[in-house]
Amino acid sequence: MEILFETERFYLRKICLDDVQDFFELDSDPDVHKYLGKKPVKTIEQSAEMIQDVLKQYQEYGIGRSAIIDKKSNAFIGWSGIKYETKVRTDYAYYDIGYRLKKAFWGQGIATETGVASLKYGFEVLKLDKICGGAHVENIASNRILQKLGMTRTETFDFDGDPHHWYEIYR
Ligand SMILES: CC(C)(COP(=O)(O)OP(=O)(O)OC[C@H]1O[C@@H](n2cnc3c(N)ncnc32)[C@H](O)[C@@H]1OP(=O)(O)O)[C@@H](O)C(=O)NCCC(=O)NCCS
Repeated sequence: MEILFETERFYLRKICLDDVQDFFELDSDPDVHKYLGKKPVKTIEQSAEMIQDVLKQYQEYGIGRSAIIDKKSNAFIGWSGIKYETKVRTDYAYYDIGYRLKKAFWGQGIATETGVASLKYGFEVLKLDKICGGAHVENIASNRILQKLGMTRTETFDFDGDPHHWYEIYR
């Protein structure tokens, strides 16, 4: 297990192809995709493709999302962390903070706890100057987390036909 960083309750490690069943459980849930374009995956092959995409990002940019692993149970909770995002803003690429958890683990402060550690890792280890984040305007939990992380909301932009709030934070 290649641990990148840890929090009080979790290890954050690189995602690998062995995570495919967990990815499928996560991304086939329509509630998880409610504010992500409402396109949950239908097949395990789609989940494998998503993991391949993450592995490609690790290779190309030296960074990508990390699996959240519970220290006590070793359970795969979901993912969190920073990726180099090239598809969300049409005019520029940026370092994006994000998180996605299996529904069973919502409401326990996990996205916030791992988000705080992701920012720290991004600024202190990766030496990034600026980290950004976007959230569907109706995704109250996600907007709340980005605010709790100390990020500043600067504008609202369109992504996939839906309004999203945009947040930034500097080192
Ligand atoms: C969004 C998501 C990551 C949140 O994870 P989480 O671990 O439950 O979040 P946290 O517990 O750290 O924090 C959520 C905050 O939002 C608040 N919140 C959640 N739903 C809320 C609601 N309907 N109204 C008001 N506040 C709400 C919580 O109270 C908490 O704030 P608090 O600590 O000040 O009380 C999780 O629901 C998820 O994976 N959703 C699907 C994927 C997704 O939408 N990802 C974000 C894409 S931008």
